[in-house]
Amino acid sequence: MEFRDLIFTRQSHRSYDKNKPVAREVLKRICEAGIAAPSAANRQPWEVWVVSSPAKLEQMKDVYRRDWFHQAPHVLLVVGDRKACWTRDADQYQSLETDAAIAMDHMILAAENEGVSTCWIAAFDEAELRKVLGLETNQEVFAITPLGYPKGSDETRPKQRKAFDDVVRWID
Ligand SMILES: Cc1cc2nc3c(=O)[nH]c(=O)nc-3n(C[C@H](O)[C@H](O)[C@H](O)COP(=O)(O)O)c2cc1C
Repeated sequence: MEFRDLIFTRQSHRSYDKNKPVAREVLKRICEAGIAAPSAANRQPWEVWVVSSPAKLEQMKDVYRRDWFHQAPHVLLVVGDRKACWTRDADQYQSLETDAAIAMDHMILAAENEGVSTCWIAAFDEAELRKVLGLETNQEVFAITPLGYPKGSDETRPKQRKAFDDVVRWID
């Protein structure tokens, strides 16, 4: 898809068909887009986890309690590694959440480009996710997304965004 079309047609999808898994080659291309993402000092302080096991997905039922989420055949996560990320000397700012967000955004766009639906989710139960996936203390997850094809037709919604002049400041 042409880049501008991709940017302007991507939307969050909240309808998935459990019976239409995404082919492994397509999942791989999506993950590769995350791996290609920039990160502070090129630390790449993350792993990409793709959960497709029906048993594991079932265990995730309390991670995010929405019916549509549980209809997706896959859930993708960026698992950040607090020990591996870059830290700014001056104030100890750490890049982990930013790095993870960029990787996730790359994968969300790559998925849309493959016709695969996603929905960025932050309102998940973090403690429950940690428990189900057995995360170590240095591992942090800021966003997860279902991955799959829509159930039935998924209509394009008009973008609800602030007006250009309300958000762009030209400092000439
Ligand atoms: C950081 C972040 C967190 C989000 N968390 C959720 C969420 O928990 N549940 C949900 O349904 N959508 C979530 N969304 C999706 C937003 O609601 C959606 O991106 C926004 O309304 C714009 O719609 P669009 O993605 O269709 O353009 C999140 C998006 C972002 C960027």
